[in-house]
Amino acid sequence: MRGRLITFEGIDGCGKSTQLHLLAQRLQGLGFPVRCFREPGGTELSERIRALLLDAAYEIVAEAELLLFAAARAQLVRVQLQPALRRGEIVLCDRFADSTTAYQGYGRGLPLELVQACNRLATDGLQPDVTVLLELPVALALQRSGRGDRMEQGALEFFERVREGYLELARQEPERILVIDAQGSPEAVHERIWRELRARFGWE
Ligand code: TYD
Repeated sequence: MRGRLITFEGIDGCGKSTQLHLLAQRLQGLGFPVRCFREPGGTELSERIRALLLDAAYEIVAEAELLLFAAARAQLVRVQLQPALRRGEIVLCDRFADSTTAYQGYGRGLPLELVQACNRLATDGLQPDVTVLLELPVALALQRSGRGDRMEQGALEFFERVREGYLELARQEPERILVIDAQGSPEAVHERIWRELRARFGWE
């Protein structure tokens, strides 16, 4: 039996990591086999690429950034995600290819067809069964992530483009991408997500 791939997306500070863990706990409580990953990361190589990407010592040009995220993902998909799905596990992933479309494509302005080609190569065609898009105004998300007051105008505009990019993806693929209002307590947001997923997958 093939498992399920559920990805969590949204701008920085939208609360996706918290929501991923609440869902994991709930599914584990029901006895489902669950594996959690974060991107970039999840393999030794991908974690080293993550460290490079987050290292403030480098100014990484947009094209190099795209390829580094793609390299980290190519490794994760083949070494971890595909085998876990073949074992029938429920795989929860904190960010996946939609992050690259939203951040490197819409945010950084790289040509969308190139970004999509990189995504196809990196994912080996693997598509999430469902993507939970946590939707929140940029100002609120930045406040939550503790960066509200220090953000320059250019950065605010960047996050606006990323947010709009995600919403555009959701319009293009409404069956796959669930847009969830991320305002309110973590428990309230979790219940919104759970209601949708339970109905979709028939989980009890
Ligand atoms: P993440 O660890 O999810 O940070 P946060 O929890 O604060 O959202 O992601 C790190 C950063 O990397 C985040 O700013 C989004 C960015 N990112 C991309 O630009 N492209 C990608 O393909 C991925 C996976 C992440």
